[in-house]
Amino acid sequence: MKRIVLGSGDLIADPSFAKTLIQWQQQHGRHQLPWQQTRDAYRIWLSEIMLQQTQVATVIPYYARFLQRFPTIFSLSEAPVEDVMAHWSGLGYYTRARNLHRCAQRVVADYQGIFPVDVEQLGDLPGIGPSTAAAISAFAYGTRAAILDGNVKRVFCRVFGVEGFPGTALVEKQLWQLAAALLPTESIEAYTQGLMDLGATVCTRSRAQCNACPLELRCQARATNRVSELPVRKPKKAVPEKFTVMLVVEHQQAILFEQRPPSGIWGGLLSLPEVSRLIATKPHHITRAELDHMLTEFGEVESMGLMPEFSHSFSHYKLTVLPVQVTMKKIFMLAAQRAYCWLPADKLSQAALPAPIKKLLLGS
Ligand code: ADE
Repeated sequence: MKRIVLGSGDLIADPSFAKTLIQWQQQHGRHQLPWQQTRDAYRIWLSEIMLQQTQVATVIPYYARFLQRFPTIFSLSEAPVEDVMAHWSGLGYYTRARNLHRCAQRVVADYQGIFPVDVEQLGDLPGIGPSTAAAISAFAYGTRAAILDGNVKRVFCRVFGVEGFPGTALVEKQLWQLAAALLPTESIEAYTQGLMDLGATVCTRSRAQCNACPLELRCQARATNRVSELPVRKPKKAVPEKFTVMLVVEHQQAILFEQRPPSGIWGGLLSLPEVSRLIATKPHHITRAELDHMLTEFGEVESMGLMPEFSHSFSHYKLTVLPVQVTMKKIFMLAAQRAYCWLPADKLSQAALPAPIKKLLLGS
């Protein structure tokens, strides 16, 4: 038996892992998928590319239509790329289709239309990574090669209790070593399909069906009640927080707005005037004098009061807003070149305002 080091300690790459999986695949795995009825590398390659980011049920009708239109690698390599794109349309991730076309042309030009058996050579073709190369070679030619897609990573992380986010180079390397060490010496097709079937139907990301799993008794995640915690999820990046003070300036049933610059957050929408964000690194750093200074441009202040702070999350940061309500006793004409305007309060619901501003002013 091979010993391999995996994170917290030594693990034994036990041949009974593959044996158990192969038996399970033969009894409970999937056998009727359209690409399982062939050894034709072209058809297997096509299925593996379609299945890279798409569910089996979605792929099946596309696969049939695609093969009807492009029954051989030669017909695909000779077709205009637009025709290939049209038959991919709706499957998403269109780089796959462009690479598919380029790959067909390469296989025709460099290998007389026959996909190489060698996993390294397969992996050098457009759109074929190491795991897809191994799957194609295993299914088409019976090559003993290790796959490691997202589903397989999940199975390994759980069964072998692999700690650490599998997206890191170190953990990924350990998983490849594990995948290689676990390979059986025969029935590579059933083993490879078994890993895929188990990950897709039993050892699912959420609501795993552990009591239907052939590996339940050897699964470290199961034994330690960590199935929902493994694989470790991508660590969340700390979301930066920004602060601003917004002015709700009122005069005779009208509110003062400022049009935002065309690009950036809320681009082109009307929003509340803000006290410069350079000043407002923290809302409470705004002084009364700074507020008064800004307001002199608009008129004379009658009264002022703080409103409850609120936060809004953008994709890259969280914005915390301190709204300050200001009632003006007298207003000046607005300078024509500035982006300010007064809107009557009863017109706000129709105005192009950002949702959090609408909510602040109208409550919905
Ligand atoms: N996902 C990736 N390859 C697959 C295959 N050959 N069968 C089912 N699901 C898959």
